[in-house]
Amino acid sequence: MFRFKVELKNIFIKFEKFVNFKTKNNTQIVSKMCIEKAYDIWAKQYDTNNNRTRDLDIKATKETLSKYSFNSVLELGCGTGKNTKWLLTKARYVLGIDFSKEMLKIAEEKINNETVEFKKADINKKWEIENKTFDLITSSLTLEHIRNLNHIFKQAHTQLKDNGLFFLSELHPFKQYTGTKAQYDTINGTKELEVYTHHTSEYIKCAKKNGFKIVEINEWFDDITKKTIPRLITIVFKKNRNV
Ligand SMILES: C[S@@+](CC[C@H](N)C(=O)[O-])C[C@H]1O[C@@H](n2cnc3c(N)ncnc32)[C@H](O)[C@@H]1O
Repeated sequence: MFRFKVELKNIFIKFEKFVNFKTKNNTQIVSKMCIEKAYDIWAKQYDTNNNRTRDLDIKATKETLSKYSFNSVLELGCGTGKNTKWLLTKARYVLGIDFSKEMLKIAEEKINNETVEFKKADINKKWEIENKTFDLITSSLTLEHIRNLNHIFKQAHTQLKDNGLFFLSELHPFKQYTGTKAQYDTINGTKELEVYTHHTSEYIKCAKKNGFKIVEINEWFDDITKKTIPRLITIVFKKNRNV
């Protein structure tokens, strides 16, 4: 009986890993276990499909980071290198990490330059970046796929120089409350990626706990009237010294 129960549990876990759940409007939700694979599929159209979040993110990233100086950058979830290209106009060295080999392939094709390195890695695990600390760590549209934010802030603190900056740009939690998720189109319909909602207070609590202070926080809207729900939130944190 016990063995039967264990077997049944294993079958259920396997099912959970591989099944795609269908919602009413024919959108499929790609389960959490398949995020890496989903980006491998999305990669080819990531830069060209209609994506207001992606487009607003590059604007928010440039407008926010233009006023800071940095030589070395660690970019988490660099994807196809959309922001890497711009970061390289300000930095002498950028290391982009991502767990999707197809997203990285496009980034490498796009940016062939000795001031940039790309590395395949899962940021949920310990970051294997030895003997390097950075002036700036950036993360755009990636943390919604990460359950344990504390791990990210902890690792970021280790990899930053004193007074180094940690910039994040994410789908605004208000937008997430309305059900908006990362999504892409396939011939079989739209695929929505399973995501985690991180409330603004969670970012702030994790940052404080791991030795960061807030430098600036901004909300980014689809139109200039700012009457709609904000699409993005950006926060710049600074690593405290002596923590
Ligand atoms: C929406 S894309 C954003 C890409 C890029 N930052 C941009 O703004 O265009 C999210 C990226 O995060 C990567 N990603 C998600 N979870 C990850 C993880 N645990 N480790 C490494 N990369 C991850 C995905 O492969 C994908 O390239």
